Amino acid sequence: MKNVTLVEHPLIQHKLTLMRDKNTSTAGFRQLLREISHLLCYEVTRDLELEIKNIETPMGAMEAKTLKGKKLVFASILRAGNGLLEGMLDLVPSARVAHVGLYRDHETLLPVEYYFKAPTDIKDRLTIVVDPMLATANSAIAAVQRLKDRGANNLIFLCLLAAPEGVKAFTDAHKDVPIFTAAIDSHLNEKGYIVPGLGDAGDRMYGTR
Ligand code: PRP
Ligand code: URA
Repeated sequence: MKNVTLVEHPLIQHKLTLMRDKNTSTAGFRQLLREISHLLCYEVTRDLELEIKNIETPMGAMEAKTLKGKKLVFASILRAGNGLLEGMLDLVPSARVAHVGLYRDHETLLPVEYYFKAPTDIKDRLTIVVDPMLATANSAIAAVQRLKDRGANNLIFLCLLAAPEGVKAFTDAHKDVPIFTAAIDSHLNEKGYIVPGLGDAGDRMYGTR
């Protein structure tokens, strides 16, 4: 799986275990996701290009490093993507934001779109698509296709947990889009949930059911 980067930092794995625990509260789950998103953001932006800018420190002139190119786009797959988005914006506050509103039909497991908004100049920017869960990958595949149709041509998909089935389906559909994830679990159950997983991410974040 050369298209996949597993982010196995001990702090992420520790916090992920707390998130998986069914006894973790809604508030605790959201807080942990926000903390993990900082660590994942750090990893997923590791290869961003820098350029040199002339600045003055209180001690004098220097050539200092600064991020090169146009501001990033973070594309959140609603609802659960917002749990990663907020933490990413803590670290990169100037990023532009796209929202892709999708929910998974419980019978067909196919995504149903209810909202889409993205920056018009997305074609000039690196777009990092965020959603905690990559299960069948139907949602991620549709969201990335929607963003490509809008012009995005430089994308990364960032999630917390993936199923092997989802990784394969996503890679088959979007070979050009690398995946970053903190874990690849065992399998999907008959209802399309990741096992052992953490349950329904959106419901656990917002206390719905
Ligand atoms: C969850 C999750 C992903 C999707 C993953 O969203 O946040 O978007 O399921 O499943 P898939 O890979 O099989 O498509 P859900 O549809 O439950 O919506 P929500 O975030 O609004 O709860
Ligand atoms: N969506 C979730 O939130 N959890 C899963 O395990 C699968 C899809």
